[in-house]
Amino acid sequence: MEKIKIILDCDPGHDDAVAILLAACSSQIKLLGISVVSGNQTIEKTSHNTLNICRYFGINVPISKGSPRPLVTEPMICEQVHGESGLDGFDFPNYEEVFDKRNGAELMIDLLTKNKDVTIVTTGPMTNLALALRMKPEISDRIKEIVFMGGSVDNGNVSPAAEFNILVDAEAAHICVNSGIPIKMIGLNITRKVLVTDEIIKKTLALNNKKSIFFAKLMRVFLDNQRKTFNIEGAPLHDPVTIASLIDDSLINFKKMNVEIDISHGSSHGRTNCDVFDYLHAPKNCYVAMDIDVKKFWNILFKCLRSKAHE
Ligand code: RIB
Ligand code: CA
Repeated sequence: MEKIKIILDCDPGHDDAVAILLAACSSQIKLLGISVVSGNQTIEKTSHNTLNICRYFGINVPISKGSPRPLVTEPMICEQVHGESGLDGFDFPNYEEVFDKRNGAELMIDLLTKNKDVTIVTTGPMTNLALALRMKPEISDRIKEIVFMGGSVDNGNVSPAAEFNILVDAEAAHICVNSGIPIKMIGLNITRKVLVTDEIIKKTLALNNKKSIFFAKLMRVFLDNQRKTFNIEGAPLHDPVTIASLIDDSLINFKKMNVEIDISHGSSHGRTNCDVFDYLHAPKNCYVAMDIDVKKFWNILFKCLRSKAHE
């Protein structure tokens, strides 16, 4: 079966790191390149983290530093969850920082010029994709679909209304959701069901290999920080759900509906208004994840951690 060609745009970030590993280890996915965006931490730190992850596991793909800030609003970071480095909990060897000469949007445009039927996966603010679509609209024809982690059918996680990736750059999300490209939203209503717990960490440590130890060390910090920040027992493992949904298309039930991004700069700025019951009879522009087989997700992740890939 032909591999799914993807470009991953991310802001590592602990859960982004797991998404990179899952994509790289899957025999069903061809990772064409990684564009990095500011989000969980500054662009300097998220790109440094991306490079470390790829060097450590021998993931040889172009890595481009993307936008250092959102299109309109001021940058926001999430140090309380991801720490000062953006990836606290794992010490990498010192690697030479060599990034692709292209910026994030340019990398997307070049890879889409050379490849068609590409899936764009975003697990951070959607700034780079929005910039690429504005710089070269014709790349839309080369994109099979966009799969993004962001938003929520119900409550946010930074404000009552808004989830982090969308709040940080609501204008970029607005551009992407209204691009006319087939687009799938995997929001907090789903990822809050995929929880890293002490038991999960213990199970992965028991595998005792390079990937599982990396995962366990990162998740220890990811869970402890979220316990402190949100007073919750399990840490939602947001980003790898996007990749897992590509590996097994039965993982998630999607419902097509109208999604409008609130860009009003009011108290609900950054909310993904999902018209689940079609009240507005507006164009159905987005496939929204409505349910997930959580057991199946963990089977996919543990299969990755047990694999010999990138050992
Ligand atoms: O709200 C969760 C999302 O914001 C995740 O992608 C996390 O990595 C942060 O980017
Ligand atoms: Ca992320």
